[in-house]
Amino acid sequence: MTTRFPFSAFPNGWFRVAYSDELPPGGVKPLHYFGKDLVLFRTEDGKPQVFDAHCPHLGAHLGYGGKVNGNTIQCPFHGWCFDRQGECVKIPYSTKVPPKAKIQPLPVCEFNGLIMVYYHSQSEPPSWQMPGFPGWNSLDWTPFLRKSWKIRTHPQEMAENAMDTAHMLYLHGQSFRAIEKAEFEIDGTVLIQRLRPKYRLSIFRELGIDAEGLVEISCYGLGIQVSYALVKTVIEFHTLTLFLLTPIDEEFLDVHVLISIKNVLNKAITNTLRSKIMAENSHNLHQDIPVWENKIYYRQPLLSEADGPIMPYRYWSKQFYSYLPEKKSSEFLSA
Ligand code: FES
Ligand SMILES: [Fe+2]
Repeated sequence: MTTRFPFSAFPNGWFRVAYSDELPPGGVKPLHYFGKDLVLFRTEDGKPQVFDAHCPHLGAHLGYGGKVNGNTIQCPFHGWCFDRQGECVKIPYSTKVPPKAKIQPLPVCEFNGLIMVYYHSQSEPPSWQMPGFPGWNSLDWTPFLRKSWKIRTHPQEMAENAMDTAHMLYLHGQSFRAIEKAEFEIDGTVLIQRLRPKYRLSIFRELGIDAEGLVEISCYGLGIQVSYALVKTVIEFHTLTLFLLTPIDEEFLDVHVLISIKNVLNKAITNTLRSKIMAENSHNLHQDIPVWENKIYYRQPLLSEADGPIMPYRYWSKQFYSYLPEKKSSEFLSA
């Protein structure tokens, strides 16, 4: 329990911990997420795995000097080897392995260049899987441009920001007056908000282009937001923006923004547009950061009728927290 928020700093769900291209076969990387020291490695057959970092023997951190040996990771201190399930399968100087020689593995999946971990505060197995995103690697779309920040906030707040349509007008200066009522859809662990704006997206303001289109924001738990935007002007622009939010500790969040756009006209124009859209996103994020880093969380906020679907979002998000049996979830997230 954090002091800033009336719920755990670490909601349950899938979270990005690395990019695939950071980890070749045999690669080992120390990580620190969810307030824990972790080790990420890729076995020689190409599969990524994440363990609690410390060796059960005498506590060495496997991420500093540990080596992949076939499909095991070998501790740098005395050479004990652990298979993908975390079982110790070899002690180089002993024929017997103590039965308790095991490290806790975390569920991992890899898709579209992302390595994701399923975090659960009670170490329960994943109750849902990440859907595939078949369009992401298509040749019609650019590779993702990436940028990252360390921000003193909570994934609950950053995802709520996407529901808070009123702040887009006021804080970010976007004209949402012509927006039709947002469509809001919940399918288990996925929440989708669809906006059909008729406005000038600020990215096009200096070009003087009126735009109308569709913005569809999909939240997959609290760690992944995928925002697809279609902007229709003389031609059509399609943008995919990923916000990947992983709690580092009780205070800070690792925030990654990835942008891909569908090819338009030629490569130079496409890449210029992609950079401009990243610059616009960064600009917006820098307007949000001082608010996030200093705000407090009201369980029962005073909302106007024209605010976005903040309370339905909060109600949906309750499923990602484990509550102590003696506490009711409504004490944490009033809806
Ligand atoms: S501390 Fe890991 S093998 Fe001894
Ligand atoms: Fe914002």
